[in-house]
Amino acid sequence: MVFLDLVRVDLKKWLWIISIPTLVVLLGLGYFQVGEPAGFSAICGTVLLTFTLLPSMFMRLGFFRENPYQRWLVKYRKDLGIVAGTWLLTHGLTSGLFFLKRDESILGQLLEPALQPVWIMIPILSLMLITSNKTSERILGRQWKNLHSLVWLLPGFMIYHGNLSIATFEKENFAPATIILGVVVLVAFYEFWKTRSYRRVLLFLIGFISTMVLWFVNNPD
Ligand code: HEM
Repeated sequence: MVFLDLVRVDLKKWLWIISIPTLVVLLGLGYFQVGEPAGFSAICGTVLLTFTLLPSMFMRLGFFRENPYQRWLVKYRKDLGIVAGTWLLTHGLTSGLFFLKRDESILGQLLEPALQPVWIMIPILSLMLITSNKTSERILGRQWKNLHSLVWLLPGFMIYHGNLSIATFEKENFAPATIILGVVVLVAFYEFWKTRSYRRVLLFLIGFISTMVLWFVNNPD
């Protein structure tokens, strides 16, 4: 029996070999408005983001520390993060091509309640992607880590945007990504409880409270 030893796989190479053609196909589906490219790209991006964040958190907490697969994921966390950001930004483009009415003002549609968080998520993801290289790391020094902590603003906005988008565009009532992001946030709270390192939960709470503000602004009654 052939046993595939995942730990020996060059994850970075395979992530791009699989992602590039898939993302091109998803953009095509978005452009021709066929299939389910919005939900698929959003879920894949969310799963990749989870694989970027969760193994490092488990490592810090001492969970599964000797597990070779977890170590392997931690080793590739920066590559996973770049691929996750690329999937999520492509999801934005694909969904825009798929759902936005081309004969109406795009700007007006992007101001819809479900899409308001996108104005925050796209700059954060873009900023992180642009600075995900050795040169930026060297220039920014300690600020690089602070800048990349902004990822913790995203879960609140993603949960809000995902559920509202599903309700607005698909007439469904629950975004599955909520469960995945919920697990990441719960582990972040557990880490805070254990270590009193507050930066991650604070950023998550800022993101979450901002979505509440957006909700009340959009539903004043
Ligand atoms: C880059 C910024 C964006 C991020 C991080 C993001 C993230 C997400 C997430 C996490 C979901 C929930 C998926 C699920 O649970 O099924 C979602 C769904 C969705 N998003 Fe986005 N999104 C972004 C940009 C956009 C834009 C610009 C649009 C434009 C229309 C959009 C439209 C949608 C739609 C329609 C859904 C529901 C998809 C479905 O399940 O069929 N998103 N997004």
